[in-house]
Amino acid sequence: MKVTVVGAGAVGASCAEYIAMKNFASEVVLVDIKEGFAEGKAMDLMQTASLNGFDTKITGTTGDYSKTAGSKVAVITSGIPRKPGMTREELIGINAGIVKEVAANLVKHSPEVIIIVVSNPMDTMAYLVHKTSGLPKNKIIGMGGALDSARFKYRLAEALECPISDVDGMVIAAHSDTGMLPLVSKATRNGVPVTEFLNDEQIAFVTEETKVGGATLTKLLGTSAWYAPGAAVSVMVQSILCDQKKMIPCSLLLDGEYGQSDICLGVPAIIGANGVEKIVDITLTDAEKEKFATAAKAVREVNGDLKV
Ligand code: 2OP
Repeated sequence: MKVTVVGAGAVGASCAEYIAMKNFASEVVLVDIKEGFAEGKAMDLMQTASLNGFDTKITGTTGDYSKTAGSKVAVITSGIPRKPGMTREELIGINAGIVKEVAANLVKHSPEVIIIVVSNPMDTMAYLVHKTSGLPKNKIIGMGGALDSARFKYRLAEALECPISDVDGMVIAAHSDTGMLPLVSKATRNGVPVTEFLNDEQIAFVTEETKVGGATLTKLLGTSAWYAPGAAVSVMVQSILCDQKKMIPCSLLLDGEYGQSDICLGVPAIIGANGVEKIVDITLTDAEKEKFATAAKAVREVNGDLKV
């Protein structure tokens, strides 16, 4: 099955690389507007195939969307990434126009496509695709929770001084420095609540570092991160293409779930061949419910800047 990744920058190329390395897609098409760039990245990646042992064919095109026809999944990474000191929300002006146009081009050539939105501000960009693409709501998924949960697990394992594979946890609500909600109440080490091992101060540190995970990397790298975003996308794409029905927190259009409607926010969902198979309603503590509502209010304000 064919996957398109729009934007051949660091995030897009990492998505393509991880998808290919896992060898579950027949083809990955990279699209970029910069002349020859996607073709170059695709060729470089293809020259790793014999070394890394994958058969996925990676091709590149400079803006020719006819090459993306028949994609089962398309990933939108286009737009500008944030620079140190910038919030994701500050990117809305430029990225909204780009994301809207990219989504329209994708749907034109692949009317059945499932779109994964990575471009920031991600929750608002996913909402924009819902408002403008004409796709049903199960076919538009914002990447955010998958990445933020991976960052949460990294910080939990660090605090617990244990392997990451011992740890489980989820981040929901907004993909923003203030609106992320790491679900400490549900996080476990081998099924045991992490609150049995970590004190309040350690938990506050883990929570805060998770929320600013992207900003910390932007400061260190001078631009936003790419390995973990690419890996998070590859897990989502695999769950769709292989109909794994994994439960993944991602930004979805809510219709009453978690007390919200007409907004995209991170919630756990079953991701399979139909895209969003089901939103999973879990019980939140009162404090978590309040934080979720506060995050929704902030995202709604950013959505208000969209001209849709
Ligand atoms: C991040 O948090 C790309 O928004 C993304 O790194």
